[in-house]
Amino acid sequence: MDNSNIIDPKLSKLHDLRKESSLGGGEKRIESQHKRGKLTAHERLNLLFDKNTFEEIDPFVLHRSSDFGLEKNKYLGDAVVTGYGKINNRLVFAYSQDFTVLGGSLSEAVAQKICKVMDLAMQNGAPMVGLIDSGGARIQEGIDSLNGYSEIFFRNTRASGVIPQISAILGPAAGGATYSPALTDFIFAVQNIGQMYITGPDVIKAVTGESVTHEELGGALTHSTKSGVAHFASETEEACINKIKNLLSFLPSNNMETPPKQNTNDTRDRKNNSLSNIVPEASNKPYDMLEIINEIIDNNNFLEIHELFAKNIIVGLARFDGNSVGIVAQQPNHLAGILDIDASVKAARFVRFCDAFNIPILTLIDVPGFMPGTNQEYAGIIRHGAKLIYAYAEATVPKISLLTRKAYGGAYIVMSSKGLGGDINYSWPSGQLAVMGAEGAVNVIHRKKINESENPEEIRKDLVNEYEDVFMNPYIAAARGLIDNVIDPSETRNKIIQSLDMLKNKRDVIPPKKHGSIPL
Ligand code: HXC
Repeated sequence: MDNSNIIDPKLSKLHDLRKESSLGGGEKRIESQHKRGKLTAHERLNLLFDKNTFEEIDPFVLHRSSDFGLEKNKYLGDAVVTGYGKINNRLVFAYSQDFTVLGGSLSEAVAQKICKVMDLAMQNGAPMVGLIDSGGARIQEGIDSLNGYSEIFFRNTRASGVIPQISAILGPAAGGATYSPALTDFIFAVQNIGQMYITGPDVIKAVTGESVTHEELGGALTHSTKSGVAHFASETEEACINKIKNLLSFLPSNNMETPPKQNTNDTRDRKNNSLSNIVPEASNKPYDMLEIINEIIDNNNFLEIHELFAKNIIVGLARFDGNSVGIVAQQPNHLAGILDIDASVKAARFVRFCDAFNIPILTLIDVPGFMPGTNQEYAGIIRHGAKLIYAYAEATVPKISLLTRKAYGGAYIVMSSKGLGGDINYSWPSGQLAVMGAEGAVNVIHRKKINESENPEEIRKDLVNEYEDVFMNPYIAAARGLIDNVIDPSETRNKIIQSLDMLKNKRDVIPPKKHGSIPL
């Protein structure tokens, strides 16, 4: 018998409820969301997940409050859509806040929905993505909504280093609402759409008298250039979501796995002839470290992280022979690649992320030292620089380094040096390992001789030349085994791939402890 025309009232009710739930705050509010150039919570999830793979959980959850008019304002699913699906065919959990429902505000029920998928992500070892578009704690629910945030922060922290956690700021994120993203590994933000701040422009005006727009205060560019809170800034939501998918492709699903290997048509032993003359003769002349990175990695495919923040250091993900590698590199084109507070913190965070998720670290070094100055000293460059030392020393993943030019003083030590546990330390013939540059060194050790000379400039020049001859090369360090080998720049890619292969099964255990006490 053909049943297709018989309408089962229970099924019909289910379909009606599903439709109602999928409309969030209703068609008018969806229209207003679109008018602002924003996608809806469901549209975002559809872009994020492989076609037809997203499975929603809890679409019928309702908030329980009846205070301040909330009794009438009940929406199926409340102000968040949660669930799981596949991204590039791998399991990922996500929540997407729905601004059309009470401004995406966080009720007790919203928090419980988010916590449920976070727990599932942890139990099943899969990444968690949060799409943020929310007016913060639901004011009418008071302490229940505040407690909801506590429950989420607790899970963010417990999940840290176990599963990758990613947040995208696709609307307001005010007050405490910023702290869940802040506890995750990567923050993406979209220009003119996402704004994060602890206190908004009105409060700032009232308290300090400063005038600032929402975008100036907490927009994507502010957080990706000035504060470093955001790792990626995009112009559109689509671009942002594509970047999230690209980032996930480099990462393992959890800390017990290695990152997925990708097929590549780039040959292992491809020569890098263009690198032979890339380092200028004069040690104070800049060049672009990104050119080196793009030349040696698979298919020029470098995902730079924190691209606009602390540009004197580069961090990002690439592949060698299909395997994910985290790259930390000085950028001689910006502030001569000096290490300052922002660069140290940026690199330290990234090194620790790579270590937590079994991603080997390649360090490309050309560093003149730590940034001098009262600004840096008073702001605690000692404390912050120590973070990078700590991160490298603590990391047990394979650590390979390549010295392209300068490695002076404390900065030599910090950048994955042998003594800090570097596994393979290469140098190009242009490498210079010394306590400091020639001019500075000569002024310190020969001050008397120079001052007493009848021709101080000439003698200084001779002494600088002599110092450069003796110290400014990689062979003294290589003679002591602190550099494992001096390599021809043209063979860089091949050497790195060989050492990655050799270190594939590296075993290194840190002493048993609850956790270290990193200088925060
Ligand atoms: C309840 C809220 C809400 C909230 C917005 N709405 N925020 N409802 N609780 N926190 C509702 C509005 O009343 C409105 O409902 C609808 O959402 C859309 O908001 P609008 O104000 O019309 O939108 P817009 O002009 O775009 O402004 C968005 C906004 C603004 C900037 C987010 O709504 C705002 O400033 N909201 C409050 C932000 C805030 O201070 N939150 C608390 C942060 S402190 P109707 O029905 O009128 O359309 C916090 C503590 C957490 O979160 C602590 C954790 C440690």
